[in-house]
Amino acid sequence: MQGRSRLWTQAGLRIGFVPTMGNLHAGHLDLVRAARRIADRVVVSIFVNPLQFDEAADFAAYPRTLEADLAQLEALGVDAAFVPAESTLYPRSREGIAFVEVPELSDVLEGAHRPGHFRGVTTVVAKLFHLVGPDVAVFGEKDFQQLLIVRRMVADLDFPIEIVARPTVREPDGLAMSSRNRRLDAQQRAIAPALYRVLRETAEAAGAGGEPDELERNAMDRLADAGFRPEYVAVRSAEDLGPPRAGEPRVVLGAARLGDVRLIDNVRIS
Ligand code: PAJ
Repeated sequence: MQGRSRLWTQAGLRIGFVPTMGNLHAGHLDLVRAARRIADRVVVSIFVNPLQFDEAADFAAYPRTLEADLAQLEALGVDAAFVPAESTLYPRSREGIAFVEVPELSDVLEGAHRPGHFRGVTTVVAKLFHLVGPDVAVFGEKDFQQLLIVRRMVADLDFPIEIVARPTVREPDGLAMSSRNRRLDAQQRAIAPALYRVLRETAEAAGAGGEPDELERNAMDRLADAGFRPEYVAVRSAEDLGPPRAGEPRVVLGAARLGDVRLIDNVRIS
């Protein structure tokens, strides 16, 4: 992979990169199309990264559909699919390896509920960036906290890579597309769009001047009434996920479980 991308770079070609864990859906494909528009060569990685899973059962249950994924990437004219084996990325074991961590931003919200998750993400993304050597990498706003953390890593550690963000792609009923959606049964799937609905209404109320603590509590109650086990709903600064400050961009983020499937989503406050 490094040899191939070095040749492209020496030929003056701009390399675009979309890291994924596979089981590709329309959200991933939107990132790939965006990369196509802004780069001369597009690399997509598929790697279910064990380092970022805090629950062994979630890692085991993560859908793996490599053949179908490769067919979709080929149809989009992707130049390379990088599908490293676990033994390629972690040849010794996962114990005692060097890691990359963005403190503070990684400790709140998702990080508070999934210890070690973002250290696993930043470590593998740093490795993938070194292997693929892109000029630009495309990430989804669906994983809003991940996007901020990757931007911070790239800025603080001087990765010569531009980070481009794309809006969340949704099902017609508003549910954010996610590889985990396919694990919802019919009843859970019917409840799932309420997460977006509640976050959107919370964002509207916050935009209209509502008091964040009260809106968060109300949203948690509504999610529980709908049948979720809500983990958090939080009105935050869209720049650093700190307390919302008047006049600065804000976002509402939420995570909630349906059975053993954990869903996340977020909505900007306008
Ligand atoms: P994965 O969940 O496969 O997501 C890969 C990329 O697709 C991420 O940038 C994510 O934000 C984006 N994405 C997922 N669902 C989306 C949707 N509905 N609309 C728009 N974009 C969407 O995120 C990861 O993998 C991993 O943490 C990874 C960065 C690959 C590191 O292992």
